[in-house]
Amino acid sequence: MLDLQATSLKVIQNQLYVLDQTALPQQEIWVHCQSVPQMVSMIQQLQLRGAPAIGIGACLLLAVLAEAGAAQQQLQQAAITLRAARPTAVNLMNNIDVMLTALAQPDYQSACIAAASQLFAEDVALCQRMAELGAELVQSGDRILTHCNTGGLATVGLGTAFGVIHQAHRQGKAIQVWVDETRPLLQGGRLTAWELGQQQIPYQLICDNMAAMLMAQGLVDKIFVGSDRIAANGDFANKIGTYSLAVLAHYHQVPFYVVAPYTTVDLNCPDGAAIPIEQRNASEVKGVSGAFGQVSWAPEAAEVYNPAFDVTPAKLVTGWVLDTGVFNQQQIAAGALQRQPG
Ligand code: MRU
Repeated sequence: MLDLQATSLKVIQNQLYVLDQTALPQQEIWVHCQSVPQMVSMIQQLQLRGAPAIGIGACLLLAVLAEAGAAQQQLQQAAITLRAARPTAVNLMNNIDVMLTALAQPDYQSACIAAASQLFAEDVALCQRMAELGAELVQSGDRILTHCNTGGLATVGLGTAFGVIHQAHRQGKAIQVWVDETRPLLQGGRLTAWELGQQQIPYQLICDNMAAMLMAQGLVDKIFVGSDRIAANGDFANKIGTYSLAVLAHYHQVPFYVVAPYTTVDLNCPDGAAIPIEQRNASEVKGVSGAFGQVSWAPEAAEVYNPAFDVTPAKLVTGWVLDTGVFNQQQIAAGALQRQPG
């Protein structure tokens, strides 16, 4: 029987609980997730969010349903439904494909539980590895800018870009973090600020449109961001606003790093143009909602364009911090994203 605990997901006595990230930081509410439609809705509403976390959360639901005795066909259908919950983060598809292989076996129930447990443990290890590799790039005194939330809430381990920051802090390096608030859904202002505060890592919150001025004034030493999907040529999708940061970093000659595990790599996408970009509801741009309620400021009839992610071209990236190492543009072009067997 599974018994697992992460920042945003836990399984206790075969019951799955998800920390509702839309209520943070005002309230910490654990929601008992019991069905596929409920999990799909939680992923779509961003109650559970972050590329690795949605992948693992979906797999844990399959595992608890298997443990509760669900039939093979029912689980296979559930996996297919969960796989389509959100379109951009490829971790969800990659993880569910592992589960579908397990579910095709004669002992599908135990195979499914073992596969979910293994994916959970693997994500913890991948985060740790990236954190160690990325922290080598950080020097004491660095002022690091990050975007969106890439921490324990977005993974089941230390996080991706956040893990690098966390590891550098644990090593005793005196770092200062600039946190982009990350409009429209404020993952930086609500979630990264909350996680940095918990770890007692010094930070200052900024509006997204302040990053240019900070870089012009020489106040940003490095930028670390996560990713929802990395294409074969190294282009990558991440939270909307990441591309602007990469352009600014290039202009101001600030090193710009993307941090992601192999579960975020999609070699079926030759380049960033092939990455599907989720379009979201107009209400997210016309106002904000949260534990405090809904506030709207735009005219009711305002037309809105609301892509959840953008694509940063490989040519703007200084380095890719993967679980297998830190790679530059030449190494990525030479195939560093191809996973070596074993
Ligand atoms: O829409 P979200 O909040 O799920 O977007 C999350 C991000 O863009 C993260 O940067 C990405 O998932 C990498 S985090 C490990």
